[in-house]
Amino acid sequence: MSNVTCGQKAATTNYTVAMGRIVGGNRAAPGSWPWLVLLKLNGNVMCGGVLVHHSWIMTAAHCFTGNRNENYWQVVVGEYDLKKQGTEERILQINRIITHPKFNQRTFNNDIALLELTVPIAISEHVNFVCLPESIGELPPGTMCYIAGWGSLYEDGPYADVLIEAKVPLLGQSTCRSALGKELVTSQMFCAGYLSGNVDSCQGDSGGPLTCIDPVSKQYYLYGITSWGDGCGQPGKPGVYSRVPSFINWINNEIKKSPGSREPTCFDFHKLSEMQDAQRKSEVTRLCAFYHRFCPPLLGPTACSRCIEEKCRGKMKKCQLGTFLQKLLDLLHPVEEFIRIRDSFSFFTETIPKFMENIYTNIFPSQGQHLAKHEKGCQSINESLLNVSLLMDEYKWILSIPIEKLSMRFQEVLVDMTSKNEKGLFKARVKATVGGRLATFNSLVGLENDSFYRSMARVIGQALDVLQT
Ligand code: ARG
Repeated sequence: MSNVTCGQKAATTNYTVAMGRIVGGNRAAPGSWPWLVLLKLNGNVMCGGVLVHHSWIMTAAHCFTGNRNENYWQVVVGEYDLKKQGTEERILQINRIITHPKFNQRTFNNDIALLELTVPIAISEHVNFVCLPESIGELPPGTMCYIAGWGSLYEDGPYADVLIEAKVPLLGQSTCRSALGKELVTSQMFCAGYLSGNVDSCQGDSGGPLTCIDPVSKQYYLYGITSWGDGCGQPGKPGVYSRVPSFINWINNEIKKSPGSREPTCFDFHKLSEMQDAQRKSEVTRLCAFYHRFCPPLLGPTACSRCIEEKCRGKMKKCQLGTFLQKLLDLLHPVEEFIRIRDSFSFFTETIPKFMENIYTNIFPSQGQHLAKHEKGCQSINESLLNVSLLMDEYKWILSIPIEKLSMRFQEVLVDMTSKNEKGLFKARVKATVGGRLATFNSLVGLENDSFYRSMARVIGQALDVLQT
């Protein structure tokens, strides 16, 4: 990786406009943080991220606890004002999400992830990668560094529209531990901010950079990844960052891996559809060769190539299923407005991905993450394929409906207020137009925020059922 151009800001960005916050920060000048990217899930702002290479983004692993399917994520580079379409703004797709293998969801230890882009990014005035701290070692407490992001302006507050930055000092490990709790702060983390509070990162800033400047070369180095905190900007509660220098070996190893040593991605398989027959055949062979390593040691060559083929086809089918489910999700988009009015995206960002994950794990019990357990692998694939085709058949009717017919409008929801059940749901009669047709059906709906969203999946499902007849 060339270190010549890393960590340099656009020449014209040497000012900041006071106003707004990360928490207690300032509006950044456009192009100030050319390595900062925005991560969106289904179009919603979720996290920050950092360009560390032409094809690689670094971010926090916890950003993917709700959904780690590459299809649903987008990377925006050159972003500045979320409300305006900037000329430097580009939307990129993710080929592969690699969360740190030792990331602990409970403790947030090793909260770091690498995202491989489907195409390398073009470097420009407002889009550049940051320097990795290969050799800068530990920086002393008190070193002033920078955080930036589009996250909340205060605890539980709204997200920022315009990129916000703040200057924060690094804190020593013992200060950090006594502020936040000895057991909670591991050596893979560090704190930055003020014990007096006020200046801090906040929700939505996760995965974004904490960068420090090399006083000699004036280049910016990535020292931390925004990870967690106790509230935002509270006195005595500095922000916690993943300690990037501790992960340098892991990062370099992942970035350097040869193409043949990684599992082919859904994007790789998807590209096959654009190829001519002959080229496609050789590409399939090339991609599938990866699965050779899962042939049990004593298997003969024919059996082994059959095993490779099955494994590879299993992965291809899994990708097709992913595309299919995404289409299903797209079908639900017409009701998004309705959910948006209710002020929450959790239905799209949590309920549906969870539902999909369940489908995945039921269909592929011994695949995916558990590839290494090849003992059970091959027989289960046929079974999986059967399940996939059953599911495809079952839902064929959805795919054959023209998209424009798939709007859903609620007309009336009559609730029997005396019918509250133990889950807090009420009996209701729902009247809605689905794809232009009036549907009336009985359902259970929640009336409080939380129970309302939980009940929505069922209501939409029931409404969709109407399309079948
Ligand atoms: N976990 C948060 C997120 O997902 C980041 C919180 C940072 N909090 C703090 N007080 N520094 O966006």
